[in-house]
Amino acid sequence: MTFEQPMAVGIDRMAWYTPNRFLDLDDLAQARGVDPDKFRIGIGQRRMAVPTLDQDIVAMGANAAEGMLNDIDKRRIGLLIVATESSVDQSKASALFVQDVLGLGGDMRAIEIKEACYGGTAGVQLAADFVRSHPQRTALVIATDIARYGLRTGGEVTQGAGAVAMLIGPNPSIMALEPESVYHSTSTDDFWRPNYATEALAKGKYSEQVYLRLFSDLWQEAGRQGLTRAESLQAMLFHIPFTKMGRKGLRSLSERVPDDVFRRLERRFEESIKHCRDVGNCYTGSLYLGLISLLEHDTTLRAGDRIGLFSYGSGSVGELFFGVLQDGFQRYLDPANSAAMLRTRQRLTMAEYEAIFEQRLVTDGSEQLLDAGDPRAKHRLVRLDAHERYYA
Ligand code: COA
Repeated sequence: MTFEQPMAVGIDRMAWYTPNRFLDLDDLAQARGVDPDKFRIGIGQRRMAVPTLDQDIVAMGANAAEGMLNDIDKRRIGLLIVATESSVDQSKASALFVQDVLGLGGDMRAIEIKEACYGGTAGVQLAADFVRSHPQRTALVIATDIARYGLRTGGEVTQGAGAVAMLIGPNPSIMALEPESVYHSTSTDDFWRPNYATEALAKGKYSEQVYLRLFSDLWQEAGRQGLTRAESLQAMLFHIPFTKMGRKGLRSLSERVPDDVFRRLERRFEESIKHCRDVGNCYTGSLYLGLISLLEHDTTLRAGDRIGLFSYGSGSVGELFFGVLQDGFQRYLDPANSAAMLRTRQRLTMAEYEAIFEQRLVTDGSEQLLDAGDPRAKHRLVRLDAHERYYA
């Protein structure tokens, strides 16, 4: 009797986008009368991306996916998921705007997922299950967000914007996802944004506690199920709303894994936070931007290496899951493009940042034409009219 090997499913392609303007957090520290080391070391951030109105989550998501897909890829997609907590409509899924902007066919399910920063992982896991049951098709998952807190609030320094697009498919080129994972959901009030608010509200310290407790519980549960196998872990990635948060998660492992394993995880963690430190929080995409950062910066990872990923969404849901790097995964990354995207950004003055922060889309149904904020971006929100959005 022969047993068939289960089909490997996972991340076949990955690409990302962040807008072309940033605020240097030394400038923010100076303007807010804070020691710059608090932001650089205490929070662990250096810069944050600042999007203009035309780069909403739809435009950013389409810009991330653009170029990653050829015509054959586009026809094979049977599920399109946009994960976001900065959505543009209460009813219509932003995935439908993205589908249109990218010129994808209609033979697919297109939906939006929300559960704070966990939404990206909910999308990835749903997509993987879809591919396992529809092995002829693929799923496109786009995690896209604008992290907005109020000016002069504690969260201001942890803003940012960006999108990560992932094609989930059979026999993936970058990372196979292990089907077993551990997860937990429980209602908490650590971070939220009521429908009438344009900025998130957070009990910052409490949300850090919930994050760390959930990670600890899931690590323990994964251990009970034989999933952690610390020696087999070549890297451990964390949801990074700001890099210090992930660092706290990592440090909690110092007593739980052997010293040499911890040193390896620490070294690779540093590679995983490089993009986030310059982009800031992109909520649903943060964990996956960490994966891109790791794979683009670390030259020692090899096919077969096993990576742990901790996803957290306030509210709150957490999941600890695992992936295995595939042969030739390096060919599917584009570090030169990432470096150029960050290098060609424009540094804003505090006055410019605050002016952009205060800009609003009209809500009265009148026509509003939007300037092209990022000349590098192929897609953008062009116009609002009669409460409808028009993209190019
Ligand atoms: N040099 C170095 N570090 C400094 C410093 C200095 N001059 N001044 C302060 N720090 C450190 C503090 O010791 C603290 O470190 P710790 O977290 O290891 O204790 C850190 O900087 C933050 O300072 P603190 O004053 O404790 O916090 P805060 O009131 O400014 O709030 C957040 C920080 C992250 C909680 C706040 O930005 C926030 O609410 N963010 C949004 C919510 C969020 O992202 N939650 C994460 C879970 S998803």
